[in-house]
Amino acid sequence: MQAPAKNITISVSYEGECHEIQTYTNEYRSLMMLIYDRICTESFGECLGMGKCGTCMVEVISCRRQPTGYDRNEDMTLLRNISAKENIRLSCQLIVDENMDGLKVKVLS
Ligand code: FES
Repeated sequence: MQAPAKNITISVSYEGECHEIQTYTNEYRSLMMLIYDRICTESFGECLGMGKCGTCMVEVISCRRQPTGYDRNEDMTLLRNISAKENIRLSCQLIVDENMDGLKVKVLS
């Protein structure tokens, strides 16, 4: 039996605008899919979450807990696209779960 859904609030800064997004566990597979669906429509998440294109980069401004991540190509893609910084992540590698509640990110792509 699946655990009951938990509400999640995420702040996303995109092109100078701050979007406060409400979601819940299991509504989206990754932060990239959430941002793509709710905010961005062009050239964001071009490889559809394979961790290869780097078009879904976000800067983590603050978080209550470290977001849960997948581990597909993220380090290599970040190194190829930008100097590796701890607070820069591929949003396609971040799982939308209760750890993400309170997360603030800025879209870099
Ligand atoms: S969607 Fe391509 S690296 Fe994230």
